Amino acid sequence: MIETINLKKHFQVGRNQTLHAVDGISLSIAENEILGLVGESGSGKSTFGKTLIGLHERTAGDAFFDGLPLPQKFTAKDHLRYSADIQMIFQDPYASLNPRMTVLDIIGEGLALKGIPRADIQEEVGFWLRRVGLHPDHMSRFPHEFSGGQRQRIGIARAMIIKPKFVVCDEPISALDVSVQAQVVNLLEDLKDSLGLTLLFIAHDLSMVRYISDRMAVMYLGTLVESGPSDAVFFEPKHPYTRLLIQSNPEADPILERSRPSAELTGEITSPINVGPGCRFADRCPEVMPQCKAVTPQPRLIVSDHQVACHLYDQT
Ligand SMILES: Nc1ncnc2c1ncn2[C@@H]1O[C@H](COP(=O)(O)OP(=O)(O)OP(=O)(O)O)[C@@H](O)[C@H]1O
Ligand SMILES: [Mg+2]
Repeated sequence: MIETINLKKHFQVGRNQTLHAVDGISLSIAENEILGLVGESGSGKSTFGKTLIGLHERTAGDAFFDGLPLPQKFTAKDHLRYSADIQMIFQDPYASLNPRMTVLDIIGEGLALKGIPRADIQEEVGFWLRRVGLHPDHMSRFPHEFSGGQRQRIGIARAMIIKPKFVVCDEPISALDVSVQAQVVNLLEDLKDSLGLTLLFIAHDLSMVRYISDRMAVMYLGTLVESGPSDAVFFEPKHPYTRLLIQSNPEADPILERSRPSAELTGEITSPINVGPGCRFADRCPEVMPQCKAVTPQPRLIVSDHQVACHLYDQT
């Protein structure tokens, strides 16, 4: 359904500085699959998602949707054309809903753009409100009258009413209370199954990503360090960064949390400005070797469908 080859998004910052937000990501997402994308803040997850669906112009590389190449720079016409198949759900359900529009207008906007009559839109919006666990009476209300979880449900209904094939969910649960997170994740999973959706699920919470995703990809400073089936990446992480990321992920269960290995990710993610060769994680890596600072590790398959970019595996 989705494929990127060496996708890059660089931002020009200042006169001679280039910020390598996304620096050569090759990955694919099969139809009806959920790919979870994880990594620390600033690793380029949102930029990857946005560049993939044309919200940023691609600096280099290729992207394909359903086997056909996506344009490097989306025109207004491209946005309209692809919005029928590709939608995005954002992290912040407060900022992404227009406060002056009613729920009917927010959820029905995509249909109104297609010229569908208002009575039909009302009916569809009523159906979708119910489908996401709200009430059709909510249609005439404004976003501020809802809780965070309810607003995210409105955002989900707005994306789903279009019947897209592919949805980028950028931290759809991070702004929500823990008690509400599982409900929203279950709703997304249920919609994915019933609509046959393909999802890119960006999140911080690794256990939630493992729970919802078929495959998991780990980003560090614009590069993909590891990817594979979710359970394999979560329970048998290969890259030192993935291992530390998983070890520093707190467990919701207090008993498991107490027995969790306590290795922590130390230091801070370095700057993606004017990066040189070598592994991006070398400065923080507990297993760093001389070649790590000189040679950029290439992704290699070590077990079926489990890929890692790390010099520790050069010999395997
Ligand atoms: N429009 C922009 N102009 C310049 N730099 C940007 C822009 N958008 C993102 N960046 C930079 O690109 C890098 C990646 O940012 P991005 O938001 O994609 O990370 P992220 O992994 O989504 O982080 P988070 O988990 O905090 O959402 C950061 O260094 C960020 O400052
Ligand atoms: Mg982000």
